[in-house]
Amino acid sequence: MAPDLFVRRARAADAGAISVLNNTFADDGQMLRRSPEVISLAIDDYVVVQNAAGVLLACGALKEYSPSVAEVAAIAVSKDAHGRGLGRAIVTAVEELAVKRGIHDVFALTLQPAFFSAIGYQRVDRARYPEKIRRDCLGCARRFACNEICFSRKLMARESILAA
Ligand SMILES: CC(C)(COP(=O)(O)OP(=O)(O)OC[C@H]1O[C@@H](n2cnc3c(N)ncnc32)[C@H](O)[C@@H]1OP(=O)(O)O)[C@@H](O)C(=O)NCCC(=O)NCCS
Repeated sequence: MAPDLFVRRARAADAGAISVLNNTFADDGQMLRRSPEVISLAIDDYVVVQNAAGVLLACGALKEYSPSVAEVAAIAVSKDAHGRGLGRAIVTAVEELAVKRGIHDVFALTLQPAFFSAIGYQRVDRARYPEKIRRDCLGCARRFACNEICFSRKLMARESILAA
């Protein structure tokens, strides 16, 4: 990632920009639409990549399902910044948040299997995460036609990527 970019925890004031970035990918169904209000309620779970001018270029969140399992969720990189390592960096930062909270088993349900494979995730059966199925999948309109693929990773503590 370029040296003029840095990764940090999100703040309350970021909710609007995170919503705009996230919703760039909602119209064609790549991501769930998320309002600033919904993001504000979970702002402590978000990380962002910011450039020197303060513009948010990437975001992602940790969604906890149990004391030991969480989802790497809502990963979005600004279209004009794709292919520069920001997606990998934001996932690494979400994983760091997980490890800080004592969570060492993370998963993602995604339409981007090649991305998650490239960054070291293993494809698994989603039945391994019944917490996710109970909370989100059973009430989802697309539950009988879901084309998301489940990936997971076991985490170990490592060097910090998040700015203090
Ligand atoms: C998927 C997404 C997050 C990738 O972000 P990115 O910043 O372009 O990814 P990176 O540059 O960090 O790429 C990391 C690795 O993944 C690979 N990769 C990224 N996107 C890929 C894709 N669509 N297909 C194949 N490989 C891909 C890269 O080649 C790179 O591999 P390498 O390290 O071996 O060279 C970005 O395209 C995006 O925001 N998409 C729209 C929203 C979305 O689908 N989010 C995922 C929801 S779970």
